[in-house]
Amino acid sequence: MFWVQFFSRHASVQKILAISSVTRCTSKSVKHGRSVCLRSIFFNSVKYYPTKLVLGIETSCDDTAAAVVDDTGKILGEALHSQNEVHLKTGGIIPPVAQQLHRENIERIVKETLCVSGISLDELSAVATTVKPGLALSLGVGLEYSLKLVDKYKKLFIPIHHMEAHALTIRLINQVEFPFLVLLISGGHCILVVAQGVSDFLLLGQSMDIAPGDILDKVARRLSLTKHPECCRMSGGKAIEHLAQQGNRLQYELGAPMQHHPNCNFSFSGLHSNATRIIMQKEKEEGLQEGHLLSCVTDIAAAVQHAVALHIAQRTHRAILFCIKSGILSQTNATLVVSGGVASNQYIRRALQIVTDATNFNLLCPPPRLCTDNGVMIAWNGIERMRAGLGVLHSTDGIRYEPKASLGIDISEQVGEVAIKVPSLEVPLNELATINL
Ligand code: KG4
Ligand code: ZN
Repeated sequence: MFWVQFFSRHASVQKILAISSVTRCTSKSVKHGRSVCLRSIFFNSVKYYPTKLVLGIETSCDDTAAAVVDDTGKILGEALHSQNEVHLKTGGIIPPVAQQLHRENIERIVKETLCVSGISLDELSAVATTVKPGLALSLGVGLEYSLKLVDKYKKLFIPIHHMEAHALTIRLINQVEFPFLVLLISGGHCILVVAQGVSDFLLLGQSMDIAPGDILDKVARRLSLTKHPECCRMSGGKAIEHLAQQGNRLQYELGAPMQHHPNCNFSFSGLHSNATRIIMQKEKEEGLQEGHLLSCVTDIAAAVQHAVALHIAQRTHRAILFCIKSGILSQTNATLVVSGGVASNQYIRRALQIVTDATNFNLLCPPPRLCTDNGVMIAWNGIERMRAGLGVLHSTDGIRYEPKASLGIDISEQVGEVAIKVPSLEVPLNELATINL
């Protein structure tokens, strides 16, 4: 996502917030499981309380989210307020606007979560909150609110690394044992890690510049896709996926990044420049100014989506081969988990499926609502940490948020030194029309 740099003029922020007050922001709360009050459950007249209940709070970017999860992985309730519509209107996230919207919504979202969960604050075992990485102003709202709750209700506090939470979400849904390979692709992140334990990661590679969701959002914005009748309310990535289905990816060639760097790092800014150049050329040919819809948006969307998918698939393929060669993962029953907002893209998933089929890996993706930012993943990370006895705090003295934070031990240089050559893959015939790895 395009994070507009700090915007200090109060008047401008007020103007944008005024847009937000007339915009219907997405807000939802969901009750899961039994329809009875989950505060206490009776089994043969014996009152049963789940032993651990964690409230998760997420405000690292542009979603204000909360959830209560118990130690069996049951989601008792969740609520989420998305700022997406506001940021679509302003052409990107303006941090003070995001901060103000978090402030306006956090209390309501937490109350709704507790209400649909049927849980009182007294019954919670702990509060888990994202403290890194993310936008400083957004992280600050969640942390400040959480610390007040923790102090008032004398709860344990579990600081959460946003990317660790994304990586572990799959274990809420599937029985995946450590170690497994994780690809996180979102608007702000692009990393390949091996999850060896709850708080034990090896970083194989990451983006050297922008994230895949960021390039999709930037291209969508440059193409003015919010003016397209079929995708005016979609995120950039979703709009590109939607239009690409009707386009011909072979009309434009964007190139393959980092072919002379045999590692697992990524780079998307070259693809972004090439896409912008093509768009400018087409505008010239069609006699259009920036801000007007080109006739060939579907073909450009298809070409960009394909180039992004191919780059992600090739780097992930190398990561899989490295893990096998170095013995980090066994060749039998190994798993690739893909998560983050971009993981909901079906074309990218298909490209990754081709890679995992060829390498005998299982491919697992959380459902879309758990791929994007949510409170459940934070609460579940809290449960994982409680079970493992890791980072559960009795005192919150000195707790700070950290806008920048890497995940795990960085072994990306060693990966590059091995310089594994990625073979080209034979793609099933019926896939050839859409993908060609
Ligand atoms: O994980 P997420 O909700 O937030 C963070 O960025 O952390 O991911 C949002 C990103 C946006 O860039 C959005 O355009 C992208 O995920 N996205 C998609 C799709 N749906 C959302 N990208 C490609 N295809 C999609 N269907
Ligand atoms: Zn995220």
